[in-house]
Amino acid sequence: MERPNWAPGDIDLERPSVARVYDYLLGGAHNFAADREVAQKTLEMMPEVRTGALQHRAFLRRAVRYLLGRGVRQFLDLGSGIPTVGNVHEIAQAVDPATRVVYVDLDPVAVAHSRSLLDGNPRVSVLQADVRDPAAVLASPEVNDLLDFDRPIAVLMIALLHFVPDDDDPLGILAGYRDRLAPGSFLALSHAGFEADEETPEIRAARRVYERGVTRTTLRNSAEFTKLFHGFDLVEPGVARLPTWHPEAQDDDGAAHSRFPGFGAVGRKA
Ligand SMILES: C[S@@+](CC[C@H](N)C(=O)[O-])C[C@H]1O[C@@H](n2cnc3c(N)ncnc32)[C@H](O)[C@@H]1O
Repeated sequence: MERPNWAPGDIDLERPSVARVYDYLLGGAHNFAADREVAQKTLEMMPEVRTGALQHRAFLRRAVRYLLGRGVRQFLDLGSGIPTVGNVHEIAQAVDPATRVVYVDLDPVAVAHSRSLLDGNPRVSVLQADVRDPAAVLASPEVNDLLDFDRPIAVLMIALLHFVPDDDDPLGILAGYRDRLAPGSFLALSHAGFEADEETPEIRAARRVYERGVTRTTLRNSAEFTKLFHGFDLVEPGVARLPTWHPEAQDDDGAAHSRFPGFGAVGRKA
């Protein structure tokens, strides 16, 4: 198989990755046959999976605009993914060019493509790291050279924590970030999940296909999702279904009303 120039030499093109499957679901071009195949199989089981990906991305846009409105000018985007339409720095620097953004992802394609896109933007940096290790992320020069921890920072984890099982201690990971943040900082999370009585055979089948092909997932209900905001005060409207959190007309493409399950919320550190 021919290797495009955005694919680092050490990645296995035959093995689907979370980042590239998500890129395909969003309509991006940074994915390979193996990614498309598992995405297609998942979509056959449950076409709403694509709507779900679009809803996470739309939530990201709305959350960033909301946070800019609250005066935030520093963003730490954890599990930032392969750059696509509506990246954080594009939204934020259109409002205020002085806004600083650090992108962090484990995936080599996400990191390589982010670096090539952002080359020459002095207020953006890209770090390849495992976000489950907050001490390493926070000690990195990419983070420290750009972000001022004496001022508010918005930590974003969009469509990320359903890849972090309870065994990996998501609350401990979140505490690692929260404890470094100045008062007035924010946490924005979106998460795949549903209430106990909402699981359908289609969801179970789609999840089996995805987990067999890509990676394990931990879907959480709204109560479990709410617990992730320990140490933060939820801003209005609290935990919401993704399309209903601060809805904007431009995201209302009909798909927004799909019942694909996912939650979003933003919290503020007092
Ligand atoms: C579903 S994508 C979401 C991308 C982006 N946040 C968005 O909403 O468009 C999840 C991303 O998290 C990254 N990821 C998953 N686990 C990670 C980890 N432990 N450390 C760093 N990145 C991780 C994946 O590589 C992928 O790019």
